[in-house]
Amino acid sequence: MIIIKGSNIIKEYGSKMSKTQVIKGINLTIESGEFVSVVGPSGSGKTTLLYLLSGLEPYTDGSIELFGKELNTYADSDTANLRQTKIGFVSQSYNLIENLNVYENVLISFIIAGKKDKSKVDKALEMVGMLDYKDLYPNQISGGMQQRVSIARALVNDPEIIFADEPTGNLDHNNGLQIMEILKQLNRNYHKTIILVTHNEDLLFYGTRTIRLNDGLIIQDVETLK
Ligand SMILES: Nc1ncnc2c1ncn2[C@@H]1O[C@H](COP(=O)(O)OP(=O)(O)OP(=O)(O)O)[C@@H](O)[C@H]1O
Ligand SMILES: [Mg+2]
Repeated sequence: MIIIKGSNIIKEYGSKMSKTQVIKGINLTIESGEFVSVVGPSGSGKTTLLYLLSGLEPYTDGSIELFGKELNTYADSDTANLRQTKIGFVSQSYNLIENLNVYENVLISFIIAGKKDKSKVDKALEMVGMLDYKDLYPNQISGGMQQRVSIARALVNDPEIIFADEPTGNLDHNNGLQIMEILKQLNRNYHKTIILVTHNEDLLFYGTRTIRLNDGLIIQDVETLK
């Protein structure tokens, strides 16, 4: 099933007087269950593309259908709902709230989405191996553990797609691999569609497909060789 369909996506930044096109006409289709790695040099538009596809940032021209509906026709309330329940976002910085413990950091995104069954919070923490640490605060755990909590937070509302922008960017090799293993398990065992941005070519084999960007355009879009 197609969950993202982008046609001639264009994104410009700047004012009328000086515009810069950072995404220059991208076409892509992503099916449910794919694990897509997006790579490319710094400034090639990877983060921008992720923001456009997830509805965090409006596009200038072209079209993006997310779950079968053109993104720019979503009402504000729909986009809020989309962000809370149908997509999860993980970034390079973990953005945990320092004065909330591990459990509460995940609970908060659950409460904002209006959900009730708190056993889901434990389940999300268990999926990332952080249930035993639920009473600790962010400054009491390692960066890798904080990133696992931020994945639990992205997961707790059972999203269909997880967008991850360089989730291993601040981690050492081993912690990075643990995060990649978790994403792989989420893809394989829980059928989450994963769209990952990475700088690290060694991590591509975790995914099923590699999209290479250069200067706002896709220059390669291939099944990942195992
Ligand atoms: N809010 C913004 N306003 C103006 N220009 C922007 C904005 N966000 C990004 N850009 C520009 O768009 C281009 C693509 O940026 P983007 O952050 O998507 O690149 P990236 O591939 O994610 O790079 P990196 O690997 O360094 O994270 C860059 O030239 C950047 O300066
Ligand atoms: Mg980026």
